[in-house]
Amino acid sequence: MTSTDTPENLNPADPAATDGAPVMLALHQTALGGPEVLQLAELPRPVPGPGEILVAVHAAGLNPTDFKHRALSIFLPPPPLTLGWDVSGTVVETGFGVTLFRPGDEVFGMLPYPYGAGSHAEYVTGPTRAFAAKPAGIDHVQAAALPLAALTAWQALIDTAGLRAGQRVLIHAAAGGVGHLAVQIAKEHGAHVTGTASAPKHDFLRELGAHACIDHRSEDFTDTEERYDVVLDALGGETATRSVSVLRPGGVLVSLLPGAENTLAAAEKAQVRAVTLLVEHDQAGMRAVAELVARGKLRAHVSGTFPLAEGARAHALGETGRTTGKLVITVR
Ligand SMILES: NC(=O)c1ccc[n+]([C@@H]2O[C@H](COP(=O)([O-])OP(=O)(O)OC[C@H]3O[C@@H](n4cnc5c(N)ncnc54)[C@H](OP(=O)(O)O)[C@@H]3O)[C@@H](O)[C@H]2O)c1
Repeated sequence: MTSTDTPENLNPADPAATDGAPVMLALHQTALGGPEVLQLAELPRPVPGPGEILVAVHAAGLNPTDFKHRALSIFLPPPPLTLGWDVSGTVVETGFGVTLFRPGDEVFGMLPYPYGAGSHAEYVTGPTRAFAAKPAGIDHVQAAALPLAALTAWQALIDTAGLRAGQRVLIHAAAGGVGHLAVQIAKEHGAHVTGTASAPKHDFLRELGAHACIDHRSEDFTDTEERYDVVLDALGGETATRSVSVLRPGGVLVSLLPGAENTLAAAEKAQVRAVTLLVEHDQAGMRAVAELVARGKLRAHVSGTFPLAEGARAHALGETGRTTGKLVITVR
């Protein structure tokens, strides 16, 4: 907590309050559409329910699911909506029954996916077990970049595929938000890591710990004698089906997007396990991520930060699909 961020002044007799009810600014939308539907709006500040904490948001990561949900009703009901699942900030208030955190604690976490969104705002509430203590050695921007992407990588590689030392793993889109954290997590687990990215990003992958790089623009990742134990596929579709052919029998394909129709049949024929993962809020995972960060084994690469008022610009950049590492929205 900084000297200016005491629980008292984060929980103010809010100067912006109307009718005595505290309000906050949020990146809000009342219609689906392009980045221009995002507007800075004054909304009632949420109140923590039983088992929840109210967090003053310092920074909030941006993920592809934010710009996908801005444009389409995938999992969420139609607007009005405030998006954002990643958060790093300071606990302001605790709801009934909360024992794990106190006002003033610095926390980071991923709100329950998909229905718990709302961190692209000055305040957000969420269940305590969506959060962990923010590692002291990183700032809120770094911490906000981690939760959704790092939990996805952890849940895919460790919880789902059971990655072990000595195994060989292929990570698609390895320079992206999920991929660049997955490379580090796999490396730390003693795996041999191959990543796909365009050639200018190969130095970045090697700095993260990748042993081999494939240029997805000029090389075919299936054109190899290599057989992997695990493939983490952030692309889905035909990439999922084609990934089956580079797995050894008994290997695991974890996709983050649905595979093409024939993926499961191809997997069955090749005797590999093919699953599609949807990230879940996960305190054990957050603590594992925090522990890796504290040991200096995991670090988010933040390639851009945008104030809340410029969230639309962050969305526009993110949805190019070409960003390296993470984009973060700064709030305080
Ligand atoms: N199911 C879930 O729970 C879950 C969780 C997290 C993310 N996801 C999904 O997973 C996908 C990736 O998420 P993210 O946050 O990592 O996205 P991201 O940060 O936007 O990914 C950007 C990266 O993708 C790379 N890329 C694009 N096309 C590629 C290709 N054909 N081969 C290799 N790399 C390619 C780009 O590298 P180059 O510029 O070098 O091409 C870029 O660095 C998104 O669709 C997201 O919605 C799903």
